[in-house]
Amino acid sequence: MTLKRKTITGVKPTGTPHVGNYIGAIKPALDLTKDDDRQTLYFIADLHALNSIHNGKELKQLTYEVAATWLALGLDPSRSLFYKQSDITELVELQWILGSVTNKGLLNRAHAYKAKMDENKGKDLDEDTGVNMGLFNYPVMMAADILLFQSDEVPVGKDNIQHIEMARDIAQSFNRYYGDTFKLPDAIVSKETAVIPGLDGRKMSKSYGNTIPLFIDEKELEKRVKRIVTDSTPPNEPKATEDSILFSLYQSFAAPEETEQMQQAFADGIGYGEVKKELFNVMNRTLAGPRKTYHELLENKQKIDQLLREGAEKAKPIARRQMEIVKERIGLL
Ligand code: ADP
Ligand code: TRP
Repeated sequence: MTLKRKTITGVKPTGTPHVGNYIGAIKPALDLTKDDDRQTLYFIADLHALNSIHNGKELKQLTYEVAATWLALGLDPSRSLFYKQSDITELVELQWILGSVTNKGLLNRAHAYKAKMDENKGKDLDEDTGVNMGLFNYPVMMAADILLFQSDEVPVGKDNIQHIEMARDIAQSFNRYYGDTFKLPDAIVSKETAVIPGLDGRKMSKSYGNTIPLFIDEKELEKRVKRIVTDSTPPNEPKATEDSILFSLYQSFAAPEETEQMQQAFADGIGYGEVKKELFNVMNRTLAGPRKTYHELLENKQKIDQLLREGAEKAKPIARRQMEIVKERIGLL
């Protein structure tokens, strides 16, 4: 029997999922679950969200929304281990233990922490203003997420590559003290994952308020698509597909033959109004079914609770076994 590669990724419940999240992260992750040689572990990183969301009601709601999104888009909890990070309390234990073999200097170099400090530069502020320990320790918690399950690979966006390198550093540091214990994980970053543009052409991001939330109703979806910024090339004139927000989004949802036809239509001078109609159609075709399931799930939160509980029940014995090994090695057992 060949061992399956363990593929793990976490999703922070810090915003309502949008089209950029779907194309850039959720869809590629769901595609990996179809591979029989992989065991996929997908979890909701609610502990990680705590460093930015300090409102219990909001965190709860976002956690349900993120869980419902993955389920509605086809995550099958019988094929993937799907759980909430906070249910695996062993992670918090491991985080402390890993923190004790992690140099503070390593964490000083983390991009997210440095970015926060940069915001304070030139102002009459302490350099650490606005930095909580949740943010500072973020990479250690993330190492715990990955290492506890002896994961082989971690699909992430480019912004998270440094975190995976740190997880490797932390694993190596532990292994040096206590003997070979943790596997060193690899990041998998899809080649130049397309950056999905938002309504204004910048990267679609909740921070820019330019998103198309995945499961807005049909009318609202149509309205957002109409709001997408276009250049002023008049109808009937040939149009460039490069740098076209409309074309880029169309390509993400349409079949390859449809994309080819659309490319031709651009060259033939299709009007932007017409493109928007077609874009709405292909988006709505993909999202209509999941949208319905999403709303049904949010109306039935006990179902989500139950699925996450079952996921945690499957993940916990694995976590417990690994913690026994760890505690034995470090002298706690
Ligand atoms: P946001 O930028 O809205 O805050 P997150 O940083 O929470 O989104 O991203 C969650 C996941 O979605 C990450 O894996 C990220 O790489 C992916 N993602 C977010 N926005 C886009 C986008 N516009 N295009 C492609 N992928 C994206
Ligand atoms: N840092 C990831 C993000 O930016 C979320 C995350 C938390 C994660 N723990 C993880 C990703 C472990 C992969 C593996 O959204």
